[in-house]
Amino acid sequence: MILRKTSSKASAPAKIILFGEHFVVYGNYAILASINKRVKVTVNLNKTQTINIKSDLGIMASYTDSKFNLVRGGKNTKEILDPLYKCASDVLLERKQNLGLNINLISEVPYGIGLGSSAACCVATVAAVDSLFHEPDKRWVCAKAVESERLIHNNSSGGDCYISTFGGLIYYSKNKGFKKIESRKDLSLIVVNTGVRHSTGDLVSSVKRFKDDNVSLFKDLSSCADNICQNAFAAINIGDQKQLGKLMNENHALLQQLRVSHKKIDQVTKICIKNGALGAKLTGAGGGGSMIALILNDDKIKIISDIERNSYDCMPVKIDYDGLMVY
Ligand code: MEV
Repeated sequence: MILRKTSSKASAPAKIILFGEHFVVYGNYAILASINKRVKVTVNLNKTQTINIKSDLGIMASYTDSKFNLVRGGKNTKEILDPLYKCASDVLLERKQNLGLNINLISEVPYGIGLGSSAACCVATVAAVDSLFHEPDKRWVCAKAVESERLIHNNSSGGDCYISTFGGLIYYSKNKGFKKIESRKDLSLIVVNTGVRHSTGDLVSSVKRFKDDNVSLFKDLSSCADNICQNAFAAINIGDQKQLGKLMNENHALLQQLRVSHKKIDQVTKICIKNGALGAKLTGAGGGGSMIALILNDDKIKIISDIERNSYDCMPVKIDYDGLMVY
């Protein structure tokens, strides 16, 4: 395929999982939303055959003949940048090109707190590299990003890459694909970062152990999660926020039983509910990371002040309806 430009840019949004995390890995439906926090990727051709990847996390590496060379950063630099190298090199292989690239990532999304920053980095990197050759096809970009994200945790449901690519709100199953949720009724949501970093792969493995040790309990929890997700799908479509909040609380209780919550998550959910939130739950893998709450606009200041008084970072978020953008 012929090169059509020598530099390109793409951006992809972070996500929250409103319902169904973990159970989605085993084939259940989940409801995911992309949020107005993005990862931006710039790609420039260089005159070598080296792929240099730099992130605003303060890390950088260069890859020559697939060999990782640390330029800047600590022990986890390879773990973070290898999937992005795979994104870029897979695109070049597919497009039958052997080029040197400088890839630069800037993120509005903290890393490792359950907001899908790794998936957004993969989606934006695949798209930015592919757009050197032609207008990228979203489905193709998403499939390639999912393959690379599996280097981060090999049991990924793929949901994070789907929502980051297609944006908005989706009803997603890893086996049956996804439906866009068309309702655009405003959801007033906040995201709270507990400040506790987690490894999604470790949490997914701990749920697998829980499932193997508690076969019938897991089956029951999974069936409750499925009902919650179906009811939430209906509640979103008719704009019943009270019902949605109640279902979020129920979903959180299931995740507590799966042992993926964290004392800080439980503390913040209590603060939110005490101050009038309609619902609150962990979002993403858990074990720390982030939680979300659905609130009424009138309670926003009160809830945010109480969360901040307890020394947590809190941000109101909006649903992003654009998904992947290529410039
Ligand atoms: C991580 O954002 C969501 C999990 O359900 C894992 C996955 O879907 O791959 C925990």
